[in-house]
Amino acid sequence: MLIEFVASDAALPEKAALAVVVFEGEAETAEAGAYARAVSASRFTGAKGQVLDVPGAQAADRVLLIGAGKAEGFDEMAAEHAAAAAYGAVKSTGLKTLRVKLPKAEAAFAGRAALGVRLASYRFDKYRTKEAADKKPSIAKTEIVAADREAASSAFAPLAALSDAVAFSRDLVSEPPNVLYPAEFARRVKDLETLGLEVEILGEEEMAKLGMGSLLGVGQGSIRESQLAVIKWNGARDASAQPVAFIGKGVCFDTGGISLKPADGMEDMKWDMGGAAAVAGLMHVLAGRKAKVNAVGILGLVENMPDGNAQRPGDVVTSMSGQTIEIINTDAEGRLVLADAVWYCQDRFKPKFMVDLATLTGAIIISLGNDYAGLFSNNDELSENLLAASKSEGEPLWRMPLPAQYDKNIDSMIADMKNTGGRPGGSITAALFIQRFVNGLPWAHLDIASTAWKKPSSVPTIPDGATGYGVRLLNKMVADKYED
Ligand code: BES
Ligand code: MN
Ligand code: ZN
Repeated sequence: MLIEFVASDAALPEKAALAVVVFEGEAETAEAGAYARAVSASRFTGAKGQVLDVPGAQAADRVLLIGAGKAEGFDEMAAEHAAAAAYGAVKSTGLKTLRVKLPKAEAAFAGRAALGVRLASYRFDKYRTKEAADKKPSIAKTEIVAADREAASSAFAPLAALSDAVAFSRDLVSEPPNVLYPAEFARRVKDLETLGLEVEILGEEEMAKLGMGSLLGVGQGSIRESQLAVIKWNGARDASAQPVAFIGKGVCFDTGGISLKPADGMEDMKWDMGGAAAVAGLMHVLAGRKAKVNAVGILGLVENMPDGNAQRPGDVVTSMSGQTIEIINTDAEGRLVLADAVWYCQDRFKPKFMVDLATLTGAIIISLGNDYAGLFSNNDELSENLLAASKSEGEPLWRMPLPAQYDKNIDSMIADMKNTGGRPGGSITAALFIQRFVNGLPWAHLDIASTAWKKPSSVPTIPDGATGYGVRLLNKMVADKYED
């Protein structure tokens, strides 16, 4: 989607829609009352999310009024959502250009409106070969009216980097599992070196030397080689500054292994690498906007398959930390991947903190529904920073408890721990398991099984499917709290 910032009196191109964003209660008087008649002949009030197609308006081939809610509540997110709603209303009309006129034309609002359209126009259509032209979105360009076009472009620059990164992350999640297996995921991450990132890929032999028996056990039933991707961004003024670290669960397909999942819905398990995709997206945006921070991203990439060589329930594996794990259920594989990825991360990089993201448990969907991800942390400051970023970016997050008294639920009869803690508090015991590998560092775990994928989506900036959840939130937290 091409974005341009234009003056309010710029001539409209042919085949253009004009979306006039209006405040609630001010719809009839907006634009000198030009649309008062249409407004009074409808139930349009300007409430958030409302759209009114104005028949017979002369200003453009098509004119829409978009409700922005009350003037007092109008913020950057409201601008973003209004522009995304405008795009949603006209994307398949056959028109070529969308012009968005916000009720406030300051650069910050214009930039966010552009972000809203970019995010809303994301589409994963590379495997469609027969889609009729009249089913495809027609809008190729969006013009945002801005008082100061230069300032609007500058405000948009880091947001353009963000939308590219979210699209990168959504693409990874949307790819089918026969295409995006661990080595292919690693290759796509390696390609990010063109952005200035440093990427190392470790294969099974290297991981075996490091003693990563926990991660390797998950992938041992797959013909696809397990991979560990290590992504570094060195943007801090002080090159030796301690990094911040992010770790992602990248199970490219989760059959459950020998503890096989039921057939119904198993295809959804292609997005069991949503945590790794979010971390890859985060590294993409940090490099894209040249963030002043040192950061590392670590992705544990495996495929969990049943096979003659697959791990069995009852097996005991030794993790890189030296701790042994009795496998009770081979479908509780994400925590086994994270155990070694997290340990490796703290051991090698000694980061300020670690945040892991994982589509870890079905139980988090039962706890929080489909909008909120779960936050588990041993550190209040890190938690507050994550929650603040989550609020301002519209990626809902809810803190869950990590009670020490539940930790015994993952004690094993014959090893240091077992990989499941029973049904009660399943997301909590999963988090407690990971906590045994953080070696006391400030750490947070985001269980994004509830938010990595949405169908249907109720947010105008998130089309149905892969959400890219986590990229915005983490990028915002880094920008606000950890850059110098
Ligand atoms: N990848 C799943 C979690 C999941 C479930 C993500 C549904 C998205 C939607 C994870 O590996 C898993 O299978 N977890 C088990 C754990 C159980 C065996 C202790 C679960 O949640 O049932
Ligand atoms: Mn599983
Ligand atoms: Zn899984």
